[in-house]
Amino acid sequence: MILIDGKKAAAELREELKKEVTDLKTKYNKVPGLTVILIGDMTPSQIYVRNKEKSANEVGLKSEVIKYPDTVEEEIVLKKIEELNNDDSVSGILVQLPLPKHIDKQKVIEKIIPSKDVDGFHPMNVGNLSSGYESSIPCTPLGCYLLIKKIESNLSGKKAVIVGRSNLNGKPMTQLLLKENCTVTITHSKTKDLKAECLEADIIVAAVGIPELVKGDWVKKDTIVIDVGINKTDNGIVGDVDFDEVSKNAKALTPVPGGVGPMTIACLLKNTIECFKRSQI
Ligand code: GUN
Repeated sequence: MILIDGKKAAAELREELKKEVTDLKTKYNKVPGLTVILIGDMTPSQIYVRNKEKSANEVGLKSEVIKYPDTVEEEIVLKKIEELNNDDSVSGILVQLPLPKHIDKQKVIEKIIPSKDVDGFHPMNVGNLSSGYESSIPCTPLGCYLLIKKIESNLSGKKAVIVGRSNLNGKPMTQLLLKENCTVTITHSKTKDLKAECLEADIIVAAVGIPELVKGDWVKKDTIVIDVGINKTDNGIVGDVDFDEVSKNAKALTPVPGGVGPMTIACLLKNTIECFKRSQI
């Protein structure tokens, strides 16, 4: 079984991005900038944002975090986004989710100009991705895709089963694998026989938020299994895949932590650089 080392893959990607930033600096005499808006003091969000900032600095991006208390009015946040949309030194804008209840998430997402939407959540980017046009691609599925490609470069005709239909992961993951000529099945809580679906799969991407849902006898010998889950349990953090069982069967598997997580952040930096490059044309 191949243990897919997301930490190592992310470090390699950051190394490539660092070189690219150096070249861009020589060419344009400026570097891509990422601005993250963090509302409230939810600990996991703070940790994510700190990691994002650290990684952005490491590859040489200009990085800024704007913090608001969780009582901040929606209007203030929308005004700030407008300001950042018009700021040439900002290539990418990310508003860390989840947001406090009184702030309309969709309104915030749609306020970010699509060309700076490093999350790929704006309906314009969602539509472009599903139509096969150039777009920002959500960081987590992009990270999963790059890990899968490391194991298997030609995915044409492979059967992929996505567990979970979220806008954040399941749906964009489907688009990325369709583009690679996979036959994609997207499953969810109302799917009749999840085990039977998974047993058909050459590739499984589990992104459903149910601890250790995917069992050893759900997986064929040659299957690549990508675990997007981060679930807090009494036994610590576990994924959506039963690691001990599935690692005995699968061809390749991502661990949790140390699999998809580090790639998500590296892909955010990649998206920021892509936004910058598109803005220079
Ligand atoms: N919170 C957890 N994951 C994400 C993500 O990918 N983007 C944003 N903006 N917030 C998140």
